[in-house]
Amino acid sequence: MKLLMIEAACPGVVSCADILALAARDAVVLAGGPGWAVPTGRRDGRVSLASDASNLPGFTDSVDVQKQKFAAKGLNTQDLVTLVGGHTIGTSACQFFSYRLYNFNSTTGADPSIDSAFLPQLRSLCPENGDTSTRVGLDNGSENRFDNSFFANLRNGRGILESDQKLWTDDSTKTFVQRFLGVRGLLGLTFSAEFGRSMVKMSNVEVKTGTDGEIRKVCSAIN
Ligand code: HEM
Repeated sequence: MKLLMIEAACPGVVSCADILALAARDAVVLAGGPGWAVPTGRRDGRVSLASDASNLPGFTDSVDVQKQKFAAKGLNTQDLVTLVGGHTIGTSACQFFSYRLYNFNSTTGADPSIDSAFLPQLRSLCPENGDTSTRVGLDNGSENRFDNSFFANLRNGRGILESDQKLWTDDSTKTFVQRFLGVRGLLGLTFSAEFGRSMVKMSNVEVKTGTDGEIRKVCSAIN
């Protein structure tokens, strides 16, 4: 698509990195979320293989490790909680969390941070030895809607990924979840406003300009 339309009209001008940043914003708007101004002018990297990535999965990471990974890119604890709030949209394959349902500890098998009424629901969605590619909403009950309910789910022990649920266990991140939920006595934070701010911050990390990188002709591969 890029090759056909934008490359034909303005060859070598518009990067895939900019298209992706704009498309992410537009997808959030279509899901009922906020819009924000996306700065453009990025060039594309010359790395395109998953095997080149240094920081793979991370869905079992402790909050300390999540914070370290974000801090290494200049993103603080509030950015971490806000951006992981992106899990208000979309789904996960059972493969990334079914260990929490069956193989987490030696007594019940289940991660004790999972709400006891939610556990049987998740077990029926992801049966032991079932299809690990089955997909489950990351924001239970509201996977297509950009809203606050992902944070309410964390409060209620209904997070899907272990790394998501831990944002409620750890005091340093729990405070931000509570602030998004408008808990009395804490300074409120508006998720929709903060999300745009943190997305712009993240999209400005290690941007390539000038003669760095390239403008890809096809987004899925280096030129
Ligand atoms: C601590 C950092 C993060 C971890 C460990 C993490 C992990 C994951 C995992 C394991 C999945 C499921 C993948 C699959 O089954 O295909 C997922 C999906 C998703 N993540 Fe994250 N994520 C993180 C941060 C983010 C951020 C910062 C955003 C956006 C601002 C984001 C947006 C999404 C979305 C939209 C999906 C759903 C994709 C779909 O429906 O196909 N995640 N994430």
